[in-house]
This record gives sequence, structure tokens and C-alpha cells, in this order.
Amino acid sequence: MSKNRQDFLNDDFIKNGERLLKFVAEYHNNIRKFPVRPSPDLKPGYLRVMLPSKANDKPISFESVFIDIFNLILPGLVHWQSPKYHGYYPTGFSYPSLYGDILSAAFSCIGFTWSACPIYTELEIIMMDWLAKEMDLPSKFIFDSKLGGGGGIEGSASESVLIVLIAAREKKISELLSDSSKNMKYYDVLSKLRAYTSDQTHSSIIKATRLSAIQLNIIESDKDLRLGVEELQIRIKQDLENGLIPFFVCCNIGTTSTCAMDNIEEIGQISKKYNLWLHIDAAYAGSLFLCKEYRQSFSGINLAQSFNFNPHKLMSICFDCSVLWVEDINVIKMALGLSAVYLKSDYPNIVEYKDWQVSLGRRFRSLKLYFHIKLLGMDFIKAQIRNNVALAEYLGDLIRTDERLYVPYPIAAGMLCFCVNKSNSLTQVLFKKLNEHDIYLTSTEVKGRFLIRFPIGSSKCDKEDVDDAWKLIKDILNDINDTNQDHNDITQTRSTYI
Ligand SMILES: Cc1ncc(COP(=O)(O)O)c(C=O)c1O
Repeated sequence: MSKNRQDFLNDDFIKNGERLLKFVAEYHNNIRKFPVRPSPDLKPGYLRVMLPSKANDKPISFESVFIDIFNLILPGLVHWQSPKYHGYYPTGFSYPSLYGDILSAAFSCIGFTWSACPIYTELEIIMMDWLAKEMDLPSKFIFDSKLGGGGGIEGSASESVLIVLIAAREKKISELLSDSSKNMKYYDVLSKLRAYTSDQTHSSIIKATRLSAIQLNIIESDKDLRLGVEELQIRIKQDLENGLIPFFVCCNIGTTSTCAMDNIEEIGQISKKYNLWLHIDAAYAGSLFLCKEYRQSFSGINLAQSFNFNPHKLMSICFDCSVLWVEDINVIKMALGLSAVYLKSDYPNIVEYKDWQVSLGRRFRSLKLYFHIKLLGMDFIKAQIRNNVALAEYLGDLIRTDERLYVPYPIAAGMLCFCVNKSNSLTQVLFKKLNEHDIYLTSTEVKGRFLIRFPIGSSKCDKEDVDDAWKLIKDILNDINDTNQDHNDITQTRSTYI
């Protein structure tokens, strides 16, 4: 009998695998040498002409597929791990967390329940407690404290907000339906439920409310881009007067545009007063709170019902790893804990992570956390975060030395925004010209002002990279200055304008 293809690959697995791992190491060691973005000649659909229109019937050699990495894959990559990459919010990378991902794929289990693969659930519970303790989260979020709360690993912040929104919805509806004096029906209540968030909140909350058939009130942020506390209170009161049912508020610790931080303490008091579920979205900035000295914005976290952040950002875990804590895991189970004959468990009262997500199957994400923490240690992980924060402060100081530029909002969690003083159009020109060079930046628009965002996300970014970026910014600015007829516009003295 001829050799099974799988056996054949087994024979070569180590040889080819070593080659692949070597490539990964070389890729990361040499990442500065790659232009951060693909050539501007690359247009949508470019790959179609380079690949056959149909799958191969017979196996192709590893050698030729390996060459595809260079000919097909690398040309289409934006190098998110490059220190020249400052787009959106950067995502993390570490070799130890990659080990975890490799093993997770290698085991190829889909441990949706404890019985389906006990270690998946066991390790996840412990990793969530490790992280919670490291951040000094209120004990209500820690499994170990046995107060009814705990955490789980999701794929994304979007999934997390969807899960807690549905849990909060079902909790509120069941509370109201259980009050027979109210004589309400499920869909009556559903149509009256109202959620609240600020106009700075990530679009994922809008998607989550659409998916869960909830109406969302978007509250205008204040001048510091925080959810306006008074405005929130007014809207809640108005909704109550109109017979509606406020039930959920989503706060930001680190908005996507500028990394603004809501006042959790004040909003928490309002949510307590009106019995709202308070969810905190700290997708990017949450890792910051591993370091004690950055915890000012964390005050009030004890008032939240749920809290989420993405260790795959500042904490440098390989994508994807998004951690969610809730104060009452039973509410999640009540909302999403469906069962089926084939899922029956001998342990009905334990955490089953299938209840924490939309899909049934799940990856062994806790292994990434385990390897990352074990092999790097928390001191190193925290030092990396501090380094990113310091580099952003350093760039901010450089930018502030130039009268033509302006940093309108506090620099937070290694993220800063800047603009050309008093000129949206010149900021746009600067942004466009910067991105014609070997740097990857994205922009935002806040209260009528166009801003260039500059998060320092890559753990490979160092002071020299920031100096290079600053030199580029200045060179382009000088260039614009020389060629721009509206010279006065760019050299006006600094003043705030909102
Ligand atoms: C503040 C904030 N919330 C939510 C998200 C959505 O993240 P995810 O891709 O994990 O759904 C982002 C994305 O960057 C974000 O910045």
C-alpha cells in the first residue's frame, strides 16, 4: 500500500517545521528591513492572477509552498509587528505566546465543556485568576474568592460586549417578568430596553446592540472626550419618564480615537442608582492596569458588572486573546447556557466556557497566556508596557517643542494624537505625506478636528525608531511649510480650539 499522505508529512514534519520556525525568527529579527506596507502598485484582486483558479488535485512540494511565502504572502502583508507600524491599535507578539498557539493548533481539541477537554477549562480559570490578581481586580471577579464571579477568554472585545449585553438583557427581562404585578411580556420589555454609551465608544457596541435587538442611546462626550455624566443622567431620566427601561451602560477605558478614559467612579454611581449593568471596555488600554502606577482611571471598577481587555494588544500576547470578567457567572450561563443531549455533563454546576461565546468550539487560548507569563515573567511584561508608555510621552515632548504642532488630548497608554496647529487641511496633508513614507499611521476625527494617531504598540519599537519618526514628521512639515501658500495658517501660535 502506498504511503498515506499524512504519514509522509509526519516524516518531514520536523525538517519542514524547523525551517518554518527559522523563517519566523528571521522574519522578526529582520522586520525593520521590510517596508511596513505593501507596494502602492498592489491593488485589490492582485492575488487572483497569481494563483490557479482551482485547487490542486495532487500534493505540491513543501519547497514550492515555502517559496510562496516570499512570492505571494510577504508582498501582501502589512507588517503589524514592525516598529514602523502605528496604525489602529497595534497587536502584540511574543515567542512564548506563539508556543502556546502552536501547541493549541497541534492538540487540535475543541474544549467547549470540561468533559470535552478538562485542561482547557482548568487552565483558563487559573489564568483568569492570575491576571485578575495581578491587576488587583475586585475580588468579586475572581473565581478563587468564591463570590460568584470569574472570567473567560474570548476572541475579541466585540464578542465580549455582545455576550455581556445579552446577559444583561436577559437578566433585566427575567427580573421584570418575574414581577407579576407588572404583567409584561418578553417582547414588550425587549422593545423598551435602552443601553447607553458615548459617541467615542468603539463601533463594536453598535454592532452588539444590533445583534441583540437593543436600542442604543449615544451620549455626546464632554470636552475631554469622556462620557458626559450629566447628559447620561438626563437621558436616563427622560427615558424613564417615557416608560422605557434603561439597563446597560458601556464605559471606555481607552477610546479607540484618542485613548480617552471615562470617569468610571461617577458613571458607576449612576448605574448603581438606576440599576444598570456597567460594562467597561478597556480593549487596548486595559493591559496598562497591570502596572500599579497607572491605575488612577481604574477607580470605580468595583461598581462594574463586567470588564474586558485584549492582552493581544499592549500585553504582547499573539492575536487573539480577549479577557472578560463578570461579577456573576450565573447570569452568563442563564443567558447563553443552552444544552443538548450530546453535551450532557456529569458536573452540572461547573464553569462551561461554551456558555461564554457564540460558537460551541473554542481554542486553547489560555495556553498562550500560560507560556507568555511563565517564560517572560510579570516583571518583564510590565516593563514592556512601561516602555511603550514612556516612548509615547517622549514623542509627545518632541512634538510639543514645535509650535506648528499640537497635542490636543492627554497621552495615555502609549497612545498620542497630534495635529497641525489650527489647520485640518494641513494635518491631512501631513498625514497623507507621512504615509507615503515607510511608516504606517491611521487618523481619526474628533469634534471637527482631524487628528493623526500615533500608538506605540510594537514591543520592538525603541527610542531610535521614535527619533526616526519624529525626524520624518519634521522634514515633511518643513516641506509643507516651504510649499504652502497659507504659511500663516501653520505658524500661528498654539491655542486650543474645540
Ligand atoms: C476601545 C476598543 N474597543 C473595542 C475594540 C474592538 O476590538 P476587537 O477587535 O477585539 O473586537 C477596539 C479595537 O481596537 C477598541 O479599540
